[in-house]
Amino acid sequence: MKKKIAIGISLIFLISPLYGSYNITILGTGYVGLVSGTCFAQMGHHVVCADINKKKIKQLSHGINPIYEPGLSELIKRNVQEKRLHFSSNLPESIEESDIIVIAVNTPSKENGQADLTALESALYLIAKHAHNYKTIVIKSTVPIGTNHQIKSRLDDFNLPESSYGLVSNPEFLREGSASCDCLYPDRVIIGSESQRATEIMKNLYKSLPKETHFVITDRTTAEAIKYASNTFLALKISFINELANLCDATGAHTATVTKAMGLDKRISPQFLKPGPGFGGSCFPKDSLALVHTAKEYNSHMLTVQAALQANNLQKTVPITKLRSLIGNDLSGKKIAILGLAFKANTDDIRYSSAITVIDTLLQEGAMIQAYDPKAIPNMKLLYPQLSYSDNSYDALRDAHAAIILTEWSEFSTLDLAKAGAIMADKIFIDCRNVLNQMDLVANGFRYQTIGNGGTRHIPISYFFCPDPY
Ligand code: UGA
Repeated sequence: MKKKIAIGISLIFLISPLYGSYNITILGTGYVGLVSGTCFAQMGHHVVCADINKKKIKQLSHGINPIYEPGLSELIKRNVQEKRLHFSSNLPESIEESDIIVIAVNTPSKENGQADLTALESALYLIAKHAHNYKTIVIKSTVPIGTNHQIKSRLDDFNLPESSYGLVSNPEFLREGSASCDCLYPDRVIIGSESQRATEIMKNLYKSLPKETHFVITDRTTAEAIKYASNTFLALKISFINELANLCDATGAHTATVTKAMGLDKRISPQFLKPGPGFGGSCFPKDSLALVHTAKEYNSHMLTVQAALQANNLQKTVPITKLRSLIGNDLSGKKIAILGLAFKANTDDIRYSSAITVIDTLLQEGAMIQAYDPKAIPNMKLLYPQLSYSDNSYDALRDAHAAIILTEWSEFSTLDLAKAGAIMADKIFIDCRNVLNQMDLVANGFRYQTIGNGGTRHIPISYFFCPDPY
C-alpha cells in the first residue's frame, strides 16, 4: 500500500501545464474543492480556492492544509510557490476575475435522504450577481439527477442571461486517500454540457491530462446520473460481497479466493470486492440515500440500492457480533482496543465510519474503549471527547480483553503479535479488514475472527497461483 501511494505521489508532479490556461475560481474549499483546485493549478491554470469559512482560508494561506490526503500538501505548496494557486474569502472578487467557476460546495443529506442544496443556491446567487462577462459554470458538487434544470431556472430567477454563461455538469470521481492521483490520472472525464462553447472550454481545461483519458461528452442530466450510478453500483458491489463474506463465514468458505476467482471474469473485475465492517465515508451512504430519494420523487424505485444500504447498516453490527462470539455477551467492564477510526485507510475522515457504530454499542454496554488511529483521532475526539485515545497501537492494546481492527491502515498489518499478546489481558483479535496473518495469530495463541475467511479457518496462502489483483 505504501509503495502504491509513493508511486502515486511522484506521478502527480508529472502532469504539467502546456498551453493556454484559464482563471478559475473554486467555490467551496472542502475535500473535492481543495483537491480539484490544486490539481487544476498543477495542470497549469490560475486557481483561486474560495470559501466563506475565513478560518480555513487563513490556514491555507499560511500553508496549513486542513485535511489529511497523501501528496496534497506537497502539491499545494508547489503550486502556491509557482503562483498558480491562491486562497481567498473574497468570493465576489474571485468570481468577477474568473473565466470558469467551479461549484464544489457540500450537499449533505437531509433527514429524509434528500440532498440539501442550500450551499449550492448561495453559490449560484453570488455568481449571478458578480458575473460581468461570460462564465463557464461547472457543477462538481454531487447533485441529484435533474438538478441542472433547477440550477438553470435559479440563474433565470437571478436575472443572469443565458448568453452570459455556459452550464456544465462535471462530476468528480476522487477517492479520499488517493484523490490527487485520481484527479490527475482519471479513468474518465464526464462533461455534461448543452453548449458547444462551454464544451470546448472544458476540453481545454483538461487538455494536459494523459492521452489515454476517456472523455464522455453528454447532456447535463446524464452526467449527473453517471455519478450516482457509479457510486451506488460500487456501494452495491461492497454490500454484496459483505453479505457473501458473512455466508462464507457461516459455511466455512474462503471469501478472498471467491473474490479473486470472480474478479478474473473481466465483466466483474476484482475491484471493490473486499469485505469489511461496512462502507462509510461521505459519498456512498449519502449518494445511495439521495438516489433512493430521487427515485421516489419520480414514482420510481431503486430497490437494489435500498438493499445495499440495509445490508450496510447490518454489516456495521458484525464486528460486535464477532466480538461477542469470542468474549461472551456481557461486555460491561471489558477493555476493548479499537484500531482504526477513519472510514478507510489514508484519510482522517470519520464520516459514516463503522467505528462510530461500534463505539456507540460498546459505550451502551458499559465497555471501556482504548482507541487508536494514525490520523483520525482529532476528528473522533470532537465526536467522543470522553474516550481514551492512545498514541500508538500497543498503548491501545495494553490490558485489553480484545482488539478490533476497523480500518486497513498498513501499520496494523505489521503489528508484532508476540508483543501484542504479551501486553493484552486476553489474546482476542477481531480483524474486520483481514489485514493480520492468520498463521501468526495462531502461532501466538490468539483466538480471532476475520470477515469472510470462513471465520477462523486458516487457508494456506500458497495454493493460489494468480497475482494479487488488488
Ligand atoms: C467514493 C468513490 O470511490 C469515488 O470514485 C467518488 O468520487 C467519491 O466516493 C465521491 O463521490 O466523492 P471514497 O468515499 O473516498 O470514494 O472512498 P472509497 O475508496 O470508494 O471507499 C468507500 C467505502 O467503501 C470505505 O468505507 C471503504 O472501506 C469501503 N470499501 C471499498 C470496502 O469495504 N471494500 C472495498 O472493496 C472497497
